[in-house]
Amino acid sequence: MNSDKSLTKTTIFLHWFIGLAIIAMIIVGYCMDEFKLRSLYPIHKSIGIILFVFILYRVIRRLIRGFPEHVAEMNSMENFVSKAVLWVLLIGTLLFPISGMMMTAGGGHGLNVFGFELLAPNVIDGKRVALSHNIHEIGEEMHKILMIVMSIAILLHVAASLKHHFIAKDATLKRMLGKK
Ligand code: HEM
Repeated sequence: MNSDKSLTKTTIFLHWFIGLAIIAMIIVGYCMDEFKLRSLYPIHKSIGIILFVFILYRVIRRLIRGFPEHVAEMNSMENFVSKAVLWVLLIGTLLFPISGMMMTAGGGHGLNVFGFELLAPNVIDGKRVALSHNIHEIGEEMHKILMIVMSIAILLHVAASLKHHFIAKDATLKRMLGKK
């Protein structure tokens, strides 16, 4: 646990960059799947893999440093729920790109970032062949479940921060905006 209640610039940058990127990726991912927008698939995958690097760095940093101490007074129940949602958000951000890569690589599509090949597609006799159906399906299922779980966790997280700001009028949101 961090004893210092102020947040570093890195913490604030990673929070907003990853948070907003995940929201955008959920919206784009949902639309491309729902409306079969094939041209968006490579963009979604490439951005997801790049985000994975930032997310991994953030998760390792959080595990080493712990979550920052709350600035607001909370009872034990509120404290528990708020910690639980923060853990779901942290782990969910990590599992999103991992499950996407499992689905794509397992399906034999290979992995590439804007044309830069990280893993070649598995092509045998001119046909794409799955590397592992199980890994593909587990990844696909995880990706779908995460869409629901993370959308709920994000809504709870946004609602809680608005409650802190407008109802409790404490410094929780201001601190994350880098204000004193
Ligand atoms: C980094 C965060 C990511 C987020 C937040 C995210 C989110 C989503 C969401 C919400 C969907 C729609 C799921 C559905 O409608 O069932 C989706 C679809 C998809 N995502 Fe991601 N994704 C991420 C990363 C990745 C990565 C890294 C890959 C692959 C390298 C990937 C590959 C895919 C594919 C292939 C689909 C379409 C699934 C289908 O056609 O059934 N995603 N994504």
